[in-house]
Amino acid sequence: MNQLIVGNWKMNGSLAANAELLAAVCQGLATAPASDVAVCVPMPYLAQAQALLSSTGVAWGAQDVSSHEAGAYTGETSAAMLRDFGCRYTIVGHSERRQYHGEHDDTVAVKAQRALAAGVTPIVCVGETLAEHEAGRTEFVVKRQLSAVIHAVGHCTSEIVVAYEPVWAIGTGHTATPEQAQAVHAVLRAQLQAATPRAQRVRILYGGSMNAANAAELLRQPDIDGGLIGGASLKASDFLSIIASCRTA
Ligand code: PGA
Repeated sequence: MNQLIVGNWKMNGSLAANAELLAAVCQGLATAPASDVAVCVPMPYLAQAQALLSSTGVAWGAQDVSSHEAGAYTGETSAAMLRDFGCRYTIVGHSERRQYHGEHDDTVAVKAQRALAAGVTPIVCVGETLAEHEAGRTEFVVKRQLSAVIHAVGHCTSEIVVAYEPVWAIGTGHTATPEQAQAVHAVLRAQLQAATPRAQRVRILYGGSMNAANAAELLRQPDIDGGLIGGASLKASDFLSIIASCRTA
């Protein structure tokens, strides 16, 4: 299975800046990349992503989805709406959602379920905070976070994407070492294996200060199946060089 590189633009961009960035990314990918590529954009730009990327090999998605199906939920965006705009993916449970919007494991699990039901692949983020890391609780935390989702989605577990993003590595320039990341990915793989016979096809991405300089080493690890890229996805040359660092299948 190809590795998967996903840009998480967070709350950045404008119509003009996005058009420039996506044109540069698509131009740089003119020769077919060895990996799958997607960008997760802010909701108002989904239509733009759909218009600009439909005839390219780059997929697009959202950064969150409502845990509700439809109705009186002001400000929310449903999974069916994401599907309407051609989203292949949506991030769920990003640490910034957990931290600033009070999302707990059970909400994240329902979001993953909603996405799958609408035909949108959830990219389920797990990761420990610095305090949890220092207390040696990494394994406990990521297993708890993933187990809520596995429990909710059941036999569809093989359809999700997982992203391990240590919170202390996000936007800080402090990347996990390839060995640290691989060790956690192996734990997650084993957990998936216990849940589905098709665990090998679940892509487990690493995220947290992945950049052009450290991507190759991370992407060489056996259980790192791609990257979720924040800051470095906003610059076409950086994003392209991460994509070029992927293992060839
Ligand atoms: P970063 O963000 O690459 O800027 O650290 C990753 C993420 O939050 O998905």
